[in-house]
Amino acid sequence: MSAYVRNVWYMAAWAGEVPEGGFLARTLLDRKWLLWRESAGGWSMIEDRCPHRFVPLSRGKFADGRISCGYHGLTFDGTGACVHNPFGGDLPSSARVTSLPVVEAHGGLWFWPGNPDKADPAAIPDFGFIDAGSPVDRTAYVMGVPYELIADNLLDLSHAEFLHVDSFGTNGSLFSHGAQKVEQDDSGAMWNKWDMIGAPPPGWATAMIGEGATVDQTLHIRWHAPASLALFITMARSDSAEPLIPPLANPHILTPETSRSTHYFFTHAPGEAEAAQARRVFLEEDEPMVAAQAEAMGDADFWELKPLILASDKAAVLARRKLMQMRKAEAVG
Ligand code: FES
Ligand SMILES: [Fe+2]
Repeated sequence: MSAYVRNVWYMAAWAGEVPEGGFLARTLLDRKWLLWRESAGGWSMIEDRCPHRFVPLSRGKFADGRISCGYHGLTFDGTGACVHNPFGGDLPSSARVTSLPVVEAHGGLWFWPGNPDKADPAAIPDFGFIDAGSPVDRTAYVMGVPYELIADNLLDLSHAEFLHVDSFGTNGSLFSHGAQKVEQDDSGAMWNKWDMIGAPPPGWATAMIGEGATVDQTLHIRWHAPASLALFITMARSDSAEPLIPPLANPHILTPETSRSTHYFFTHAPGEAEAAQARRVFLEEDEPMVAAQAEAMGDADFWELKPLILASDKAAVLARRKLMQMRKAEAVG
């Protein structure tokens, strides 16, 4: 059985990461790929490995939507077909590299590693909120941990009360006032919703709303297979429902680089302070903890370790189960 679900859209990159007139080389799902924008519109994605002597095509020359191998000059277009053989003569049909369907949506480039006949762009999760509000910076990190562990982390927001106490901890109110609901919606998404109604405000909000007043907070995370998540946060006065912060909506889109490393795509408000805050939360708080977790688990299978399951793990467990079902279904056909 494949280590990854195949018949699903994964995000390869933000479109803005691909240099104008050039290509982006990136490892995704354990294989190396090239992505570029076609001058006639649309995108191409082909494997970064020449079928002749297997050197990376990214070491060659790229021009006008074609890449020439830097070793012996075979040239490939965006469909993966060999369109030039400097030695002349007929080439076998194997003179091509794998190409994958790739579609731009919401500023991201989404690829489909499974059966291309099933690649329906309508199934790309809706991240339209990214451009619906104030401008944002799109960011990508590589985290040296398996994507499943980052998805678990995001699907259980209660960790904010311990790991993010200083950055965006909910002041203990997740436990004193929180109610959790796990729901599915018509888009195939699963939601883990924490609502904290009538909770004591964080310190900075007390000055705004006065002593004794309370706040209603919501922390909602949405998951689409395999690990395309979105986080929605609101905070309002309990008495008037007046928002105390603008509603926050952030993508947290995970794509395996390898089985042990993950491309993490997200956005933050423009500016160095906001970038630094995001780095602090994800790279200084989440990543070291999840990396230590991965090290402690070693090569063991998550379930074989018999993890203790808490009520707050429901969404993460359902997501893992759904991915396993999808992989099993793909394995049988
Ligand atoms: S290795 Fe690419 S053309 Fe020979
Ligand atoms: Fe976190």
